[in-house]
Amino acid sequence: MRFVELDELKVGMIPAEDIYDEGNKVMLLDSSKALDEHYIEGLRKNNIQGIYIEDALSKGLVIHDAINRVQRKRTVNALKNMDFDATRNEAKGIVSGIVKHGTISMDMKDMRDFDNYTFFHSVNVAVLATVIGKGYGLNSTDLLRLCESGLFHDLGKTKVDKNILNKPGRLTKEEFAEIKKHTEFSYEILKERKDIIEDVRLGALYHHENYDGTGYPHGLAGEKIPLFARILRVADVYDSLMSKRPYKEPFPSNETIEYLMGGSGTLFDPKVVISFVKAVPVFPLGQTVRLSDGREGFVCENNHQSVLRPKIKLFDGSILDLAAPKNLSLGIKVTGTEQPDMAEEFARRALWSTDEKKTVMICDKKEDYTSIMSDFEVEFATDIKVLVKDMMKNGIPDLLILHMDEDITNLPIALQLHKAFPNLKLVFSFDRFERSMLLKLTDTRAVDYLIKPYNDINLRERIQKAIER
Ligand SMILES: [Fe+2]
Repeated sequence: MRFVELDELKVGMIPAEDIYDEGNKVMLLDSSKALDEHYIEGLRKNNIQGIYIEDALSKGLVIHDAINRVQRKRTVNALKNMDFDATRNEAKGIVSGIVKHGTISMDMKDMRDFDNYTFFHSVNVAVLATVIGKGYGLNSTDLLRLCESGLFHDLGKTKVDKNILNKPGRLTKEEFAEIKKHTEFSYEILKERKDIIEDVRLGALYHHENYDGTGYPHGLAGEKIPLFARILRVADVYDSLMSKRPYKEPFPSNETIEYLMGGSGTLFDPKVVISFVKAVPVFPLGQTVRLSDGREGFVCENNHQSVLRPKIKLFDGSILDLAAPKNLSLGIKVTGTEQPDMAEEFARRALWSTDEKKTVMICDKKEDYTSIMSDFEVEFATDIKVLVKDMMKNGIPDLLILHMDEDITNLPIALQLHKAFPNLKLVFSFDRFERSMLLKLTDTRAVDYLIKPYNDINLRERIQKAIER
C-alpha cells in the first residue's frame, strides 16, 4: 500500500482500509470498492486529507502505524471529554505499538478541523514524543509517562479564548500573553489528578521552554528543563510546522527538519534533535512524492544514514536511490502540498525593501544562489583563507554561508571562525546531509543548516531569519 494525498486521488483507485466519519457512524470508504467521485467528495467534506491505497506498484509494502484512525479518534474523543482514564488507556496502546514496530503513522494530518485542532495535535505530539523518547533510549515505563505528558500537554488551551487561539494573522502582545498562560493551566488541571505523576505535569508546564532560556513560563535553560519537556518541545514544533493552520500552510517535511537542526542548541536540546533525526522518518514509507524533474513515485525504503534521501519507487516501476551521487540534485516534494502564497511573499519582500540590504558572504557554488542576488548584498569567496583575511581587514558580513562537503573538511575552519569572530553568524550548506555530521557540527554554533537543492522562496526567508537571529 501507499499513501496518496486527497488532491491526488483518482477514480478507480482501491482504498487499503475502511474509513468512517468522525462520529464513527457513516462509512465513507469501503475497502472492497474502488474510489468514485462520490467517495472522493465524501472524504473532502470530512476533511480527510489523504488515504492509503492498494495498487500493483506498491504491492508487498507493509506499513505499521503506531496509531490507526480508529485509535486516533478514540484518543481525541477521550481528551475532548477530559476522560483521563480513557486517555491514559490509549497511551498504553500507542506506546506498545511504537515499542513493537518502532515506526510512526505518517497519516498525521487526518481530520483536523480548527475546533479539534488542539486534540489532534496533542495526539500527534504524544506519538512523536514517544518515538523520539525511544530513540533517546527511554524505557517503557518512562515512554508511557512521556506519552501521557504529550497527550495532556495542551489541555490548558481549553481555558484560552478560542478566538485568540485560532486568530489568523499577527497576535497582539496581550493576546500572546493570554496564549502563554496555557502551560500553567495545563499544570493546574493535571494537579487535580493525584494519580498523574509530577514528571507528566512538568512536561506540560515546561513544553514551551527553550534550551537557551528564552522560552516560557519560567525561562529555564539547558538540563534545568525536565527531559519530557525538552522532548515535547521538539515534537510540538515539528507537528505545528507540518500542519495547516488558519494563518499558514504546512511546511514541506525536509524544510521542517532543517528548521529543527537550525534550532538545535537554541530552541532545542541538541541531544533530542539527534534522537529525532535518528528515529522519525522525514518521508515516511509509502508516502507519494514528486521529484523536481517531474517524475513521481513513492518512498519504498528509508535511508537511516541520510534521512532526507530515501529510495523512491517510480511509477514506471524502477527504483531510484536519491542518496546516489548522480541523484543528489533532485529535489523531493510530498504531492498535494502547496507552495507559499505569492501575495504573502510579495508582502514580505516589500517589508524588507525598506531596510538597508544586508551583506551575505558565500563560500559555495554561485549558481545555487541566483535567486537571492537582488535581495541581499551578496559576495562570493572561493578561498576560505582569503575570506578570513578580508574579514580581519573589513569586518564581518551580516551572514556567512559556508559549504560543508561530506567529509566536513571545513569544520576546523568553522571552529576557528567562531573563536575569532564570536558575533559572526554562520550558516552551513550541504549537498547531502548525513545524521553523523550533525553530531560533529554542534560546537560550531551555526544559526542554520541549508540542504540542497534549495526552494528559492524558502531560501530567501531562511537567510533573512538567520540574519535576524
Ligand atoms: Fe503548547
